[in-house]
Parts: sequence; structure tokens; C-alpha cells
Amino acid sequence: MSDAVRDDAASPGHRDDLPHGARVVQELLDAETRPVPAVLRAVGDAAAQTWGVPRARYTSRAVHEREEAKVWRRVWQMACREEQIPEVGDSVLYGAPGISLVVVRCGPDDIRAFHNSCLHRGTRLRTQPGRIGELRCPFHGFTWNLDGTFAGMPCPWDFPQVDPTTFCLPQARLGRWGGFVFVTVDPEVPSLEDYLEILPEHFATWDLGDRYLSAHVVRVVPCNWKVAL
Ligand code: FES
Repeated sequence: MSDAVRDDAASPGHRDDLPHGARVVQELLDAETRPVPAVLRAVGDAAAQTWGVPRARYTSRAVHEREEAKVWRRVWQMACREEQIPEVGDSVLYGAPGISLVVVRCGPDDIRAFHNSCLHRGTRLRTQPGRIGELRCPFHGFTWNLDGTFAGMPCPWDFPQVDPTTFCLPQARLGRWGGFVFVTVDPEVPSLEDYLEILPEHFATWDLGDRYLSAHVVRVVPCNWKVAL
């Protein structure tokens, strides 16, 4: 268990120093008639602070660009559930500011995330999810196999500089946990296992890998993503 999380909160003797909100949660758990998993008693030690947020954080182009560079390009993001792409060739699209990926099941237990950009002129390879046999650019027909290796082009004599053995689609990093597929475009960010930190331990009682997606509701909301969140 992380140093940042205390698991002794169930002990009434330790409650006086808890923030008000954490104390209330503990009291609600006390009132539970069923056994409470120990993990739900854990209390983080991050300081609870509130302060005003400048309006520009939600409206400024400069802030958006900083978020694109320092948030979206530097974190692990959940792209889909594994059961959304159960068969070889199934694919989904994942996008975030400045990022467009095609997540493909290219083998029974092999899922990869490719940058959704043709290596010829940058055309988007895919605009829709669905089952595919290959990744074929709609512009001039450069084509890649499901594993990202180059499959061919209509007129190879025009491209003597292309070495078909190395002309592979660039991949984002991909990690899997609990049936979720995560991606990151940052080659330096720590592994997904490190990034999830204590989460798998907290969910040990509830096996998310044993669950499935039964409904997926999407709505475009005309607001800054932080407001929607
Ligand atoms: S842009 Fe994709 S083949 Fe030309």
C-alpha cells in the first residue's frame, strides 16, 4: 500500500486528525450493516484545499495548448474496453487534443495502437471504428498489415526511398489492466503499472476484468473538458 494512503482510519482513535469530509465518510461506513472492505477505509493524506480557479483556465487558447503538451501527451488514457474489439481486425478510434490513434486487435491476444496518420502525406487512415483486414490509406492506397508492418503501395517504383521492411506504422504505447486498454503517446512516461499505482490493489475485491461494457453513452457537450469532467 502506498505511503500516501493510511489504512488505519477505521480506528476511532485516529479520526480526530482527519479532514471533516473523510471523517464523515468513516462515520457512514460505521453505519453499514454489511462488512466494509478494508480498502474503503483507506484515507489519503493529500491536503484538502480549495481555491478560486481563474476563468482563463477554461477559455484561454494558451492554456489549452499547455494542456495538450503537458497533460494529454504525457499521461496514460483509457482508450477502450477489450471486449469492444473481441475479434482480430476489430478497431476503435481514440482521440484527444493533438492525438488520433487507431486501436486494433491484430492477434487473439495482441492489441496495438497506431498513430492515425498515413506515412505518405498524413491522411487519416481511419475515420470510423469497425472490423478491418488491413490499414489502407484512402488517399493513394498505401497499406499496412494489422500489425503495422508495411503491406504495399500502388506504385512502388515512384518511391525508391521507401524500405518496405522498415516502413512500419508508428505505435503509441499500450497497456492493459482489468479489461481496460490504455494508451499513451509519451515514450518516457512510467509504465502503466507504475501509473496505476495503488488502483489494482484497491480494486482487488472487484475484478473489473470480469465485467463488460453493456452501454456506452456519448454526448458532445459545448464546453471546456474540465467543466464536463
Ligand atoms: S496520403 Fe496516404 S497514401 Fe498518400
